Amino acid sequence: MCNTFIMANVGASPHTGHCHSDKGFKHETAGGCSGPGVDSFKVADLEIELVKAGAEKPDENTLGFGTVFTDHMLMINWSERGGWEKPHIRPLQNLSLHPAASALHYSVELFEGLKAYRGVDDKIRLFRPMLNMERMLRSAHRTCLPSFDKEELLKCIMKLVEIDKDWVPNSTTTSLYIRPTFIGTESSLGVKKSTKALLYVILSPAACYFAEGNLSAVSLWADPKYVRAWHGGTGDCKMGGNYGASIYAQYEAINAGCQQVLWLYGDDHKITEAGTMNLFVYWINENGEEELVTPPLDGIILPGVTRQCLLDLGHKWNEFRVQERTITMNEVLRALKENRVKEIFGSGTACSVCPVTRILYKGENLIIPTKENGPELAKRFLKHLTEIQVTPWDVLPT
Ligand SMILES: Cc1ncc(COP(=O)(O)O)c(C=O)c1O
Repeated sequence: MCNTFIMANVGASPHTGHCHSDKGFKHETAGGCSGPGVDSFKVADLEIELVKAGAEKPDENTLGFGTVFTDHMLMINWSERGGWEKPHIRPLQNLSLHPAASALHYSVELFEGLKAYRGVDDKIRLFRPMLNMERMLRSAHRTCLPSFDKEELLKCIMKLVEIDKDWVPNSTTTSLYIRPTFIGTESSLGVKKSTKALLYVILSPAACYFAEGNLSAVSLWADPKYVRAWHGGTGDCKMGGNYGASIYAQYEAINAGCQQVLWLYGDDHKITEAGTMNLFVYWINENGEEELVTPPLDGIILPGVTRQCLLDLGHKWNEFRVQERTITMNEVLRALKENRVKEIFGSGTACSVCPVTRILYKGENLIIPTKENGPELAKRFLKHLTEIQVTPWDVLPT
């Protein structure tokens, strides 16, 4: 099955599907066993109903993000009483939910975001998908939704992508965005574990935010009056509630003339994330060393797949210090004053790498010299990620 697929990888054998370093992704959820033997749906039971006539494909030159969907979707129902049902691939359709469904009232909902790329050899590659499956399982545990076998889910997704493979766009700046979603569907207003759930996956051809080599930059609004996540909260999981709750601050950022929120945390204004991206600072640190630094996975940071890739590449190149540690706004202010900041950039599946050129903090516009400095490192990361995603392994530069 799915012999058109390759698992793209970073820093390890491309064919293993394993990672060079999966720090932050390894710990299994308590009770979150997901290996063979766990109660799970199985790809072998997949039932497929194809559309009679597929929809017209969009013009790749006008693709945006998340508005066009492919012909099919994956749907798998679960209930406490009956366990997992057979997985189904069906024509894309509306859901029928009871108005008391727990997803609608209490945000018993989680999701993932990953991409399938069409390579220059016309093969379709998923980019480190097991990291997304692992993160999804951890989010499911935190949301009190049932476990599943992540390899079986990945195989079902691969089958779905294979069926809709003609929707995977062709250029290096486009891809097929994959949105696995898991919702509580119990028709009860009690705030409790949902005894019914639906896992579904939809696909959307999408443009990359930025074309390779043409990195658009963003400005950030840094105001500690809103926090995205807190210790003991759910910021390290991809739960819908985190995102719905962030929209208000995003509009304050826009009203203040910025594009994204720089999420701060604590009295010392620790830098955490930017919008829906992890954040990296590339600078000369206070000891005079060249360093790439990103906040640690201490419970308030989403363990981004792209973040992990940049850390893996940085470690592999071994040309500068690579650190996961706390950064405060005061440290950034000091470094800017002393001309030590080279680049600040965000990372995420949507944009890959996104330079930051300005931070509005305490009424002052801090100009970040990311663009003036190339941005050499951000561009190099983007180039490597793009090559890994679309280049056949046997011609990949080392
Ligand atoms: C809050 C948040 N941080 C970081 C990321 C980047 O994660 P990834 O690289 O897995 O896309 C995302 C994107 O999903 C996100 O929503």
